[in-house]
Amino acid sequence: MAVPSSKASRPMRVLIIGGGPAGLYLALLMKRANARHAVRVLERNRADDTFGWGVVFSDQTLGNLEAADPQTAREIAGAFNRWDDIDVHFRGRTIRSGGHGFCGIGRKRLLRILQERCEALGVELRYEHDVSDDEHACRDFDADIVVACDGINSRVRNKYSATFKPDVELRRCRFVWLGTHQRFPAFTFAFEKTEHGWFQAHAYQYEGETSTFIVETPEEVWQRAGLDRMSQEEGIAFCERLFARYLGGHALMSNATHLRGSAIWIRFPRVICASWTHWSERDGKSVPIVLLGDAAHSAHFSIGSGTKLALEDGIALSTALATRDGDLRTALAGFEAERSVEVLKLQNAARNSTEWFENVERYTALEAEQFAYSLLTRSQRISHENLRLRDAGYVESMEKWFASRACVEEPCPSSAPPMFTQFRLRGLTLPNRVVVSPMAQYSCIDGTPDDYYLVHMGSRAHGGAGLVFTEMVCVSDDARISLGCAGMYRDEHTRAWTRIVDYVHTRTPAKIALQLGHAGPKGSTQRGWENADEPIAPVLETEGDSQPRDRNWPLIAPSPIAYGPRNQVPRAMTREDMDRVTADFVRAARAGAECGFDWLELHCAHGYLLSAFLCPLTNRRDDAYGGSLENRCRYPLEVFRAVRDAWPAALPMSVRISAHDWAPGGNTGDDAVTIARLFKAAGADLIDVSSGQTTREAKPIYGRMYQTPFADRIRNEVGIATMAVGAIYEADHVNSIIMAGRADLCALARPHLADPYWTLHAAAQLGYADMPWPDQYLSGKSQLERNLARAALAANDKPEANG
Ligand SMILES: Cc1cc2nc3c(=O)[nH]c(=O)nc-3n(C[C@H](O)[C@H](O)[C@H](O)COP(=O)(O)OP(=O)(O)OC[C@H]3O[C@@H](n4cnc5c(N)ncnc54)[C@H](O)[C@@H]3O)c2cc1C
Ligand SMILES: Cc1cc2nc3c(=O)[nH]c(=O)nc-3n(C[C@H](O)[C@H](O)[C@H](O)COP(=O)(O)O)c2cc1C
Repeated sequence: MAVPSSKASRPMRVLIIGGGPAGLYLALLMKRANARHAVRVLERNRADDTFGWGVVFSDQTLGNLEAADPQTAREIAGAFNRWDDIDVHFRGRTIRSGGHGFCGIGRKRLLRILQERCEALGVELRYEHDVSDDEHACRDFDADIVVACDGINSRVRNKYSATFKPDVELRRCRFVWLGTHQRFPAFTFAFEKTEHGWFQAHAYQYEGETSTFIVETPEEVWQRAGLDRMSQEEGIAFCERLFARYLGGHALMSNATHLRGSAIWIRFPRVICASWTHWSERDGKSVPIVLLGDAAHSAHFSIGSGTKLALEDGIALSTALATRDGDLRTALAGFEAERSVEVLKLQNAARNSTEWFENVERYTALEAEQFAYSLLTRSQRISHENLRLRDAGYVESMEKWFASRACVEEPCPSSAPPMFTQFRLRGLTLPNRVVVSPMAQYSCIDGTPDDYYLVHMGSRAHGGAGLVFTEMVCVSDDARISLGCAGMYRDEHTRAWTRIVDYVHTRTPAKIALQLGHAGPKGSTQRGWENADEPIAPVLETEGDSQPRDRNWPLIAPSPIAYGPRNQVPRAMTREDMDRVTADFVRAARAGAECGFDWLELHCAHGYLLSAFLCPLTNRRDDAYGGSLENRCRYPLEVFRAVRDAWPAALPMSVRISAHDWAPGGNTGDDAVTIARLFKAAGADLIDVSSGQTTREAKPIYGRMYQTPFADRIRNEVGIATMAVGAIYEADHVNSIIMAGRADLCALARPHLADPYWTLHAAAQLGYADMPWPDQYLSGKSQLERNLARAALAANDKPEANG
């Protein structure tokens, strides 16, 4: 991200509104790039009037500053207070982990450094200049470009909101940014319970004598505690009492003297803008107004990245302007394209982190060790292996801690990566936490799984996963998705599945689960690799046929709503239909038990029959099975109870749900919690947490482990085991999820299509030699382990990129 000091770039007149980190840093970088640029900063406050205390940066941010302007970076680095450890104080315990590499600096100190550098480079700084009319300010300076760095409540952003389209979401917690002279040896998170709910403090020492101390709690707890009715002093005294044990007798201080009463407690505004540039015609010339820093986007303070984003925006904008000399439109388009990706990544991480702190209560049933680990990995950007790089001793002790708790049947390893620990539900013990997710193979004839299935399921069971799922096995011929789907409605199906189950049991350590389902409104469609979800095409069956034969069958659903424009309109189910389908499920479950399956799952996800009952977009019934969520759950629960009764009591039963419909008016995470609660009350042992595929209008927000937050929420709010699934493809993902208690099992689908031995390979990569391999393959194991060890050594020997 080095800024070219392009002396040749055309001089520009740059007007900057707001002298915070974004405005000042951009100003000095512009001047540094070309001394002939005229740069004016208008700041409404006096030079040393500022809110807040200290801010933190990571070492990586410092590297970016060094490349952009070494002098400023040196001064900032000189003023930094550094620390490596994070302490989490929870229920009288302190969990410490190291290697985090943070630096803290006072906000005033940072601004002073930036102001002095601006002055030295010849930036015109005008304080006590509140810009109420940007057009006037622009004309007055004859600016070529106006950059609005006027902070999170940006007036400029609001004025041109038709262009910027800001989306401002006030988050659920109230927080207050305080300071104290107490010194903290580590970045400190402290959690305290009151009769009104939990409060947390984020504290760090940013200079010799002073620390930042932010206190935060959900809005409703804040109100219940009466903080909304307290004066500023009373509110601060409340925090001093609550966190007295961390303050060593030191006071908490506010420097927001301009605010009265409880107004120092604010809710964090999450800002996203559709665009960051507005063009105005001024005196015959087109002048862009660009948003920068908090004016353009915000990232919750709990990931400590707002100032970093503001400074790095400045680097990117000055670089874009210098490299696209004079061509403002191209420069600004490039700037926005580059930065919006970075910002989105950070905002995703910040969202996870914000939600974690908003829902601390959810995690308070965890033991201190797991609570702290969940906190450290909350953004899903810091993983198990990242933590190991930071503090191998901490991760080792956590692995021992987890392994001792997870041990069900001897022999148990004294330490193992969390994914390789056992898991028990009812009378069944799984050898590890990796699951081959259900995957339709569309390769049966009349519902019978043949040798293809024996090899497919068998090789995945050899591949090391603790549990291997069948695809959705259909409870009747008209319950199938496609002509190739597997069934459990004829004696030959029972015989064929028994052969597969026996193979898995006698030749592999894996357990095998049966997923039962009914396609409902998504039935009678083509195979996955054909025109998926579209009706079956008619065929000419024999050469002499003149009329193509329609092989589609009539569909049933909660309501007569077709899945898509070309799909059949299903018939709304009558009570008789419900009884018939329930009986089909019960018969299939009994057959599954006869085959010897270890686990049964009821498929209530992805828009198939039972899922269509749960989803308000596909269930429009006005009887006892439609309307409220409780009513929509009624039929799936009836089926669940009937199947549970028919399924052996010693064996577990799970339910797969779509935890979010990703469509307006559809179910959300809140509904998923209620659905999970109802299934738990009916006797479900685990919720398999998927999402979407319930309507064609769905717009899921994809990303690594994107459905895991739903599994986390259900597990820790409802108190039921969960299985996470969806874009989990690295061993590191699985270990982080299991260790943090976000889920008990992780299901991987597509990775197991690419590599049936995914789990064995993951064990070798992690150096976990205790993983049992098939005897026949042991020489492959030792060669793979040797090669991986050699590759790791060679990688360690490589010189550093900058060395
Ligand atoms: C509690 C809390 C803790 C935080 N902790 C961290 C942290 O640890 N690490 C981190 O990186 N970030 C942190 N941040 C975020 C950080 O403070 C901001 O992201 C950062 O200050 C953004 O810089 P900025 O220049 O865009 O905006 P600001 O710093 O808000 O600066 C905007 C400036 O514009 C001026 N202004 C506004 N309107 C006008 C106007 N009309 N005319 C003239 N001037 C105007 C304001 O006076 C202000 O000086 C924290 C934020 C909060 C609230
Ligand atoms: C080819 C294929 C077939 C699938 N069939 C089923 C199925 O029968 N039942 C089911 O619940 N999910 C099914 N799924 C969804 C997967 O179980 C899983 O939830 C999804 O692929 C996300 O996991 P992944 O990111 O690991 O692939 C299928 C997925 C794929 C790729």
